[in-house]
Amino acid sequence: MNIAIVAGSSRSNSQTAKVARFIRQTLINEFDLVEQEVSVIDLGSYPLPLWPGEDQGPWGLFEKQLAKADALIVLAPEWHGMACPAIKNFFLYATKAQLAHKPAMLGGISAGIGGAYPISELRASSYKNCRLCYIPEHLIVRGVEKVMNMPQPVDEDDRRIRERLNYNLDVLLRYADALKPVRAAIDMSQPEFANGM
Ligand SMILES: Cc1cc2nc3c(=O)[nH]c(=O)nc-3n(C[C@H](O)[C@H](O)[C@H](O)COP(=O)(O)O)c2cc1C
Repeated sequence: MNIAIVAGSSRSNSQTAKVARFIRQTLINEFDLVEQEVSVIDLGSYPLPLWPGEDQGPWGLFEKQLAKADALIVLAPEWHGMACPAIKNFFLYATKAQLAHKPAMLGGISAGIGGAYPISELRASSYKNCRLCYIPEHLIVRGVEKVMNMPQPVDEDDRRIRERLNYNLDVLLRYADALKPVRAAIDMSQPEFANGM
């Protein structure tokens, strides 16, 4: 099983990247994945040039990580009630060649009580041509600076978000298994259906 986690903040040392690293560790510690099976694509530390850039920056590396993933976790901070532009830019690079019919769990990240807008924005737009399949479960990490910092939860909010994360990851891994044969059975080469409607 191979999972790619995309941290969609353009800030280096973002809280979104912190959550991505926490999820990676959870997959290793609680779900028995090995280190090589979980990669983090941090758009703050390795920014993609605004598409279409003169060069593609780290895209060549990301492309390989995404292509071998069986499932994705897409994390986006809420900025001015929107998904951070870095994640929308990422979806201009990403295509069905890497992502088609792979399950993905969304996560909205907020330092306050926001975090829902990036979820609804990405559910509405992002998947049409790349055919990424968002699962019904998503994560909204509110008060992000106060949670997922220590190996053990520090309070009730921290405990609750970790329980929700574990529940969602269990669901995501089941979708990842179930969609493997579906992916193999779908013909993605028909030119008249190259893009979604
Ligand atoms: C330009 C900007 C706009 C923001 N707007 C919102 C917002 O609308 N709602 C919200 O909950 N948090 C907002 N935040 C705060 C983020 O929730 C906070 O920075 C959080 O740490 C996630 O961002 P990060 O992953 O880049 O650290 C904003 C932050 C920035 C930099």
